[in-house]
Amino acid sequence: MARYLLTAALPYANGPIHIGHLAGCYLPADVYHRYLKAKGDDVLLICGTDEHGVAITLQARKEGVTPQELVDKNFKIIHEAFQGLGIEFSHFSRTSREIHHREARSFFLDLYNKGFLKEKTTSQFYDPVARTFLADRYLVGTCPHCGFDGAYGDQCENCGTSLSPDELKEPRSVLSGSVPEKRETNNWFLPMDEMLNLPEFAKYTERITRWKSNVKGQFHSWVQQGLQPRSMTRDLDWGVPVPLEGAENKVLYVWFDAPIGYLSATKEYMELQGNPEGWRAYWESEDSRLVHFIGKDNIVFHTLIFPMMLAAHDQMVLPWQVPANEFMNLEGRKISTSRGWAVWLHEYLRDVPGREDELRYTLLCNLPETKDADFSWQDFQLRVNSELVAILGNFVNRVMVLTRKLSNGQCGDLPSEDPNTAHGSLSLELDSTGKDIRLAMEQFRLREAMAGVIHLARLGNRYLAETEPWKMLKNDSEAASCVLRVAAELCAELCIALEPFLPFTATRLCSQLQWYPTDHDREAWWSTGLRCTYLTSGKQLGEPALLFTPIEDDFINAQVHKLQSMNDQNPQTAPTPSDPTPSDPTPSDPTPSDPTLSVPNSSLALKPEVSFDQFASMDLRIATILSAQPVPGADKVFEIKVDLGDEQRTVVSGIAQHFQPEALLGKQVLMLINLAPRKIRGIVSQGMLLLAENREGQLVLVGPSGTGIRPGDKVS
Ligand code: MF3
Ligand code: ZN
Repeated sequence: MARYLLTAALPYANGPIHIGHLAGCYLPADVYHRYLKAKGDDVLLICGTDEHGVAITLQARKEGVTPQELVDKNFKIIHEAFQGLGIEFSHFSRTSREIHHREARSFFLDLYNKGFLKEKTTSQFYDPVARTFLADRYLVGTCPHCGFDGAYGDQCENCGTSLSPDELKEPRSVLSGSVPEKRETNNWFLPMDEMLNLPEFAKYTERITRWKSNVKGQFHSWVQQGLQPRSMTRDLDWGVPVPLEGAENKVLYVWFDAPIGYLSATKEYMELQGNPEGWRAYWESEDSRLVHFIGKDNIVFHTLIFPMMLAAHDQMVLPWQVPANEFMNLEGRKISTSRGWAVWLHEYLRDVPGREDELRYTLLCNLPETKDADFSWQDFQLRVNSELVAILGNFVNRVMVLTRKLSNGQCGDLPSEDPNTAHGSLSLELDSTGKDIRLAMEQFRLREAMAGVIHLARLGNRYLAETEPWKMLKNDSEAASCVLRVAAELCAELCIALEPFLPFTATRLCSQLQWYPTDHDREAWWSTGLRCTYLTSGKQLGEPALLFTPIEDDFINAQVHKLQSMNDQNPQTAPTPSDPTPSDPTPSDPTPSDPTLSVPNSSLALKPEVSFDQFASMDLRIATILSAQPVPGADKVFEIKVDLGDEQRTVVSGIAQHFQPEALLGKQVLMLINLAPRKIRGIVSQGMLLLAENREGQLVLVGPSGTGIRPGDKVS
């Protein structure tokens, strides 16, 4: 039994939660937490709202309320929405609580006393009318790159470029509109460059080889860029006051205090449990595994800054894993809260009651685990109707209804063990799928694990189709009852396997079966793969009821319409380069969504059926790679020239983190050549290279290695 402390990024209490947040970290954290609990591990999942920083003060200004009023309102909305979707935290706290302020101050003082916070004078923009220093977001001006007059001191929302306040042309204060002046001020800096060499930190960086490539990539790119001392205090009046003399009107930098929220919330939880020292087992003990679930914009804070803070503090555990996700887009565009391009969780729960798992499922199937992903209402409908209804729901319903018909809902006997029968081979396939699911979970490939669970139900349907118990009902009712018992056992197994992913469905299924797994059943299945006999002969099952009902077109149309109308109210919505987040800019985004690369993301996930015509419309050819070269400013893509026999083409392909350019030269690959051309990073990409993605998330060339194939040859 291992001990885990899981954290999910503390959401800013500047607004409600949308599907991008859910797919980024809250859903994965919840699934993983439920999984570890089922497996019998000692685990906590800690979260709470992040209530400081300019993200809060700016929004409060916009809404004409005080920061405190804003965070009180949003804490409630966020907390309730999480509960509504079955996101189960061990504890959900807030960074405005006294216990957190106390903890953050004492953490700061500890680092200060050890000499890790160095005072430095810098000159900052100051608003002489409002009489306050101006955070980057409080400055607007003209973008030096695109000329947009309305760029912020940290980012231009028009062209997406990260800026620093000094780069803005004609800066003005958001507060008073006045022209800011430069004034000197003192702040306290964390010497990140020196802290890289702390023994604790250096030891921790060895783990990083095991991490996901998107996380590793960002980590290394920050380190290679050269780390600078970073200010951990701000001239602001909302936040945790800096506990030093001469630091009046200053607060801790929000990214200093917020991650300490994980620690203060653990302490608060343990106090409530009547075990005030209990936090130590998770934060100080060598055998504790600290796992941060976050979105990609938080990587630098969770892999560098916070670990450095922990390394400098006493005896603290440093992250064991940081399974950060990429971004979730909506209907092909970046989610943008300021432009209303989002699906809000609290609205979904209000408008579509009783369909919590349908949303969980669609998001889990599309988790942006290795690259940006997309949520669309049409996909939602398709997933629900053709997978939840047609595969999972259908299987369970057939078993329930047939058992009712045959024996009034009573379970029959199990057949004898014989591997050469339909149930023998079912059993082998269930074993092996179960193994795939567990392996995927261990490696944080939750989307594949989800697909595996649906596959269990698919195997059930296949088993029924092979054995055709409905034909046996009359003349061989004993055989039929054996078949249905095997199928009912699989329903019970599904209760266990579904629980981390679709907990509402698991509960409904249990009550239909009138059977509930014990801790031992769960532990056996999730930790060793042991499939027990769950039911007994003669056991009475409950009433059949549909687990899922189809999503109608009207519903989808209404949702799309709702989005579109938000869009009309915000005319500047046109293709949005990025969502302006008030958090710090990260270095040039190393993970653009890559439309030129299509790789099957999961060996288990089956895509919906396509017609032969749809298939035949794709022009697939053999291409030979002539050259591959990096694209400046985009470290995930190569510009690749290919030979197609009688023509040469250029494609931009997101494979740069998987191959050295030389390794690609002369290789043959499959290529989709009639994909509409697209401009990517200023280069027109004329097609798509097809590669395979293995279970470690690496891309592998699957071109023909045989002889006698020439560039331009057709694949069909
Ligand atoms: N509030 C931040 C965001 O939404 C996340 C804070 S995570 C923590 O991007 F570690 F700082 F708590
Ligand atoms: Zn710009």
